[in-house]
Amino acid sequence: MKLIDGKAIADQIKLEIAEEVKTIVANGGKRPHLAAILVGNDGGSETYVAHKVKACEQVGFTSTLIRLDSDCTEDDLLLKVAELNADTDIDGFIVQLPLPKHINEQKIIEAIDYRKDVDGFHPINVGRMSIGLPCFVSATPAGIIELLKRYEIETAGKHCVVLGRSNIVGKPLATLMMQKGYPGNATVTVCHSYSKDLAEQCQSADIIIAALGSPEFLKAEMVKEGAVVIDVGTTRVPSTETKSGFKLTGDVKFDEVAPKCAYITPVPGGVGPMTIVSLMRNTLLAGKKEIYK
Ligand code: GUN
Repeated sequence: MKLIDGKAIADQIKLEIAEEVKTIVANGGKRPHLAAILVGNDGGSETYVAHKVKACEQVGFTSTLIRLDSDCTEDDLLLKVAELNADTDIDGFIVQLPLPKHINEQKIIEAIDYRKDVDGFHPINVGRMSIGLPCFVSATPAGIIELLKRYEIETAGKHCVVLGRSNIVGKPLATLMMQKGYPGNATVTVCHSYSKDLAEQCQSADIIIAALGSPEFLKAEMVKEGAVVIDVGTTRVPSTETKSGFKLTGDVKFDEVAPKCAYITPVPGGVGPMTIVSLMRNTLLAGKKEIYK
């Protein structure tokens, strides 16, 4: 069994990005600038945004954090999005999800200029990704694809089972894994809460990508010997073992599944660090106007 060290790969990619930023700035170019809008004080979102701001510092980007109260109106947020769309100093920005219930998330996503949508959530980016055109690919799927590439994991002709069908992870991953090229060319099955044969599908899978948000869902008996298991789960489970009072828990029962695997990602330290680094890479592309002029 080989552990996929997402933290180490992410650190390496951060160094690569930092080098490129240095070169850009040394040649008189503009330092990439990422903005993040955080609405309210959700604990998880606070942590994620803080990590994103810290990663910006590490790679040499400028970052701006914009905070709005949880009771701000949809129009307040739309106004802020319009401001960032128009601000020529900002190369890319994100609106941290989830948003308070009274705000229509899809409306906000569609208000973001797709050329600054470094989250890759705008329908133009999603559509372009699905037909294999240059675009911003959402960060978690892009991070997983990068891990498969850096570990040179074979995907062509393999049976890849994606657990979960979210717009952010499951659906784009299924699209990317079936796309022509490497990593890709896999035979993809997407399982979700209505799937009747989920366990059987997993048992026949060469690659399982678990993105259900259901702690320790994937058990040893569902995994065949030699499988590659990618764990996208990051549920905050209450714990007395940690200072914070919770433990980040994946969708895979790691201790029993790991011995059967050819490769497996841990939680934390697997997919998580790659997600943030993919956002940094998208921001670099936005800064360089490499995808959209
Ligand atoms: N909430 C959970 N994941 C993400 C993400 O990748 N981007 C944004 N904006 N919000 C999220």
